[in-house]
Parts: sequence; C-alpha cells; structure tokens
Amino acid sequence: MTRGFRYGLVGTGVAAAALAAHDLIQKKHSVLRNYPVVGHMRYLLEELRPELQQYFIERNWDGRPFDRDIRSVIYERAKGIHGEKAFGTERDVSRSGHEYLVHSTTPLDPPPEVPRVMVGGPDCRQPYSMSLLNVSAMSFGALSANAVRALNEGARMGGFAQDTGEGGLSRYHLEKGGDLVWEVGSGYFSTRTEEGAFDPAQFRDNAAHEQVKCVSLKLSQGAKPGIGGVLPAAKVTPEIAAVRGVPVGEKCVSPAAHTVFATPIELIEFIASMRELSGGKPAGFKLCVGSRRDVLAICKAILEVGTAPDFIIVDGSEGGTAAAPLEYEDHVGRPLTDGLMIVHNALVGAGLREHIRIGASGKVAAGNDIVKRLIQGADYTNSARAMMMATGCIQAQVCHTGRCPVGVTTQDPRRAGALDVADKSLRVRRYHEATVAQATQMMASLGARRPEDLGPHLLRRTISSRETRSYAELFEWLRPGELVAEAPQSWAQDWQAASAHSFVPEPSQPH
Ligand SMILES: Cc1cc2nc3c(=O)[nH]c(=O)nc-3n(C[C@H](O)[C@H](O)[C@H](O)COP(=O)(O)O)c2cc1C
Repeated sequence: MTRGFRYGLVGTGVAAAALAAHDLIQKKHSVLRNYPVVGHMRYLLEELRPELQQYFIERNWDGRPFDRDIRSVIYERAKGIHGEKAFGTERDVSRSGHEYLVHSTTPLDPPPEVPRVMVGGPDCRQPYSMSLLNVSAMSFGALSANAVRALNEGARMGGFAQDTGEGGLSRYHLEKGGDLVWEVGSGYFSTRTEEGAFDPAQFRDNAAHEQVKCVSLKLSQGAKPGIGGVLPAAKVTPEIAAVRGVPVGEKCVSPAAHTVFATPIELIEFIASMRELSGGKPAGFKLCVGSRRDVLAICKAILEVGTAPDFIIVDGSEGGTAAAPLEYEDHVGRPLTDGLMIVHNALVGAGLREHIRIGASGKVAAGNDIVKRLIQGADYTNSARAMMMATGCIQAQVCHTGRCPVGVTTQDPRRAGALDVADKSLRVRRYHEATVAQATQMMASLGARRPEDLGPHLLRRTISSRETRSYAELFEWLRPGELVAEAPQSWAQDWQAASAHSFVPEPSQPH
C-alpha cells in the first residue's frame, strides 16, 4: 500500500467519522440520526430525482398511499418552505374519474379567520370548537412516545385536536397540553377491568383530564373493518403493556366486537353514558361504513332513545394502519366517498343532521381533500398518515416490525430517540396551518365564505372525454326528514328493514 493511498484512506475515515458525528448531533433529519453517513444516500437521490429516486428507493411508488406530489407538498409545508409547484400538472386531468372543484367567476378573498366547527349537540355540556383538520386516531404503541409528543405539541401550538387512538390515554398524550379526542376501542385500554371489561370509574377519571375535549368509541377502522386493533408482539414493551393492561411481548389483539353493546339502541345508550361519565363532553363514534342498513338502524335508534351522538367519524377503506392483514386493507369496507355520503344522507333523511357533526378520514392530505370532504357531507376532517409524514415518516412501510427508520412507529428507544420533538412538532403545526389556510383559500375561490356555503354542485367528476357531471347530478341527496316522512324508493327497502333493536345482516340477494 503506498503512502498516498494510506493517507487517502485515513482522510476518508476521518471525514466519515466527522460526518457521522454531525449526523448524530443534528436534529432535523431523523433518518441521519438513525443511519449516520449512509442515510445521505436518501437525500442524494432526492436531489437527483425523480428518475433515480424512483428507480432505487421508490420502485413501487405508484402503489404507495400518497404520490410524489402530495408527499413533497406535505414535507415542504412541514418545513415551512412553500408547498407550491412550478410548471403545471403532470396528471391527465381529462381522464374519466378525475374530480375537480368549480371555481367562481367572482371569487372571494379568504376570511381573516379560518373557519372552525362547534361539536356538541343539545345534551352536551362542554361543546368543543374543532379545527377543519385534526390528527386522526393513532395509538401510543403504534406510534413512539416521541411521535405522540410531537403530534400533541403541534396540536397545542396550532389549536387543533389529536385523537389518542385505541391504545389508551398515555402520559405522552398529556405531557404537552394539546387538545385530545380520547378514543376507546373494543380492548377498552386505559379503562378496562382485569378481565378486559369496560370500567366506568376509570373512564370517568381519565375523561376528566382538562385536555380531553371529546370521547370517541371506535367501532371500526377503514384499513381493517371487522377485526380489532392489532399491536405486533415486537412493539408490546413493558411500558405499552402497562398503559394497556396486557402481557409484555405478546401480540395484543383487541376483540373484533364490543362487549358494551350489541344492538343499535345499546350503542346509542352507551354513547350517552360516555357523555355523562365525561361530565358532558362531546361523545361520538368512529366507523368505516359497511352496511347502509346498519347506519339507518343507528339513526332509528337515535330517534327511539331520544339522544344522539355529538359526532360520527367516518373512515374510508383507503385508510391507513400500523398493522393489518392485506386482505382487509384492500377488500373490506366502503371507501370514504361512499361511506361519508351514506352517513350524511342518512342523518339528513332521518332529520338528525343538525346536531350531529361528521368527521371524515381517509387520505386527507391537502386543502382540496378537506374541501372535497366538506362538500360530500363532512364538517371536519382527520388525517393520520399525512400527519405522520409531517413528523418525519418516509413511508418505509415497516411500522409493524418496530424498525421504523425515522422513529415514528417504533418502541425501540434508540430509533425513537432520533425523532426530535421540538423540530417535528413545529413541522406538524406548520403543515396543519398551511393546509387549512389552503382549504380556506380554495373555498373562497369557489365563492364560499364558510363551509356551509359549499354544495354538491361545486364538485364535478369527469365521466368520459366529453362529459362531466356534478355531485348534485351524480348522487341522490336526501331532504331533511325525508326518510321519516316518506323514504324515496332507492332508500325505502333499507329504511324499512333497519331496526333499532338489532344489527341484522343484509339479506342475500338472488344471483
Ligand atoms: C399508524 C397508524 C395507527 C392507527 N391507529 C388507529 C387507532 O388506534 N384507532 C383508529 O381508529 N384508527 C387508527 N388508525 C387509522 C387512522 O386513524 C385513520 O382513520 C386512517 O389511517 C385514515 O386516515 P389517513 O388516510 O389520513 O391515514 C391508524 C392509522 C395509522 C397509520
């Protein structure tokens, strides 16, 4: 080995060590903190993109939940850069199935304050002013403690809410002071007896936290409707086990069905009891719609019991998860557009819409997603994966292994420690602020001062190369109370068959 070569080798080693030290100390890039030196490959490829990045690290990006444009918008907004794009779209906006919003010839200036929505019906004593965009349910367990902290601190700074997910109310949710929607699933974590039953006393105590603004019962989730939450064994650390009240290191599976209700009436009565136990905070439930008849059965139960949930969150089958069987992710449950319009129309038709707010989740990532969901019947939206990306998620899609390269979905303290809470919470706040501002701006472009001014005529779908139709024309929109007065033919069979006393399976149709 020549002397020059040896010097070169030593020089390279010193430079690599210095770079590694820098990578470990810096706080902006979690991937570099977890993968010093080699992690730069990612950024190099990002610089050279799109072709090389696509070839090397995103070979399958077409199948990825969020496409490249949306991902860069999320990342850039989170970093406070701009979120605008030069040169025009690369999509074929004339293809059938493409949807677009109808701008006004006399657009408005956006209002000085972004709109919010009051959640809380007549039986609620502590209504909550909800942002148009919030952090969707993701548990501590699925997420690392630092990710939970960053989301909650972002929510606090930005004035929006974080849904705890079904994995219990942990100290990390409560540390930063951001608003919470406390979700309870069929495992009743943070409110369960030793035998796994719902424990009202624990529920009352936890719901009393000042930060808990709403309480929510999870019936189902779009990525895996019909099965309970799943936390792989690798992620059930002693701490997670303690929060949930389950054994360490064993796969934690929530039961598929709840034990607190079996019929629509029992569901509504249970939601009412959650509201009472929480001191009158808004109480509601989350579901991915399967059967329209079941939604109508719930409406009948509300009418019969005489009290209503304060909110219903509709999740689409396109929704995300930290762990679910692929068969469920792709083949069970209704997409958000379908489920949302069913819930909205059912409530309108049953004369119940006025006091029940509808939240929507399922690939909500940008301002147009918010506006589109408001038009389809939502009052506000929740986002899980885009919020994860604002905290640094790079869609490595290894959440279920506990080996998340950026510390978002891992319980490995070393990996999770790479996520800098101060930096990422700021990103979450910025992403939220820019996205809601964009939604508000878009509403003004459509001529709407407030969400209530939006209507189905403002969203159109391209049907063929020569034809587009608005949502007003494409779908049936029920009038207030229409189902109760006289159900239109298209709804009559389901409305008549729906019972407040049982969730009955759809009758099999002749083939
Ligand atoms: C990591 C992760 C964990 C989740 N955990 C829960 C949960 O505990 N409870 C729940 O109702 N939904 C859970 N979800 C679903 C989301 O709340 C949301 O409904 C769904 O992902 C759709 O939103 P998105 O498309 O913005 O991700 C989870 C999703 C992700 C990605």
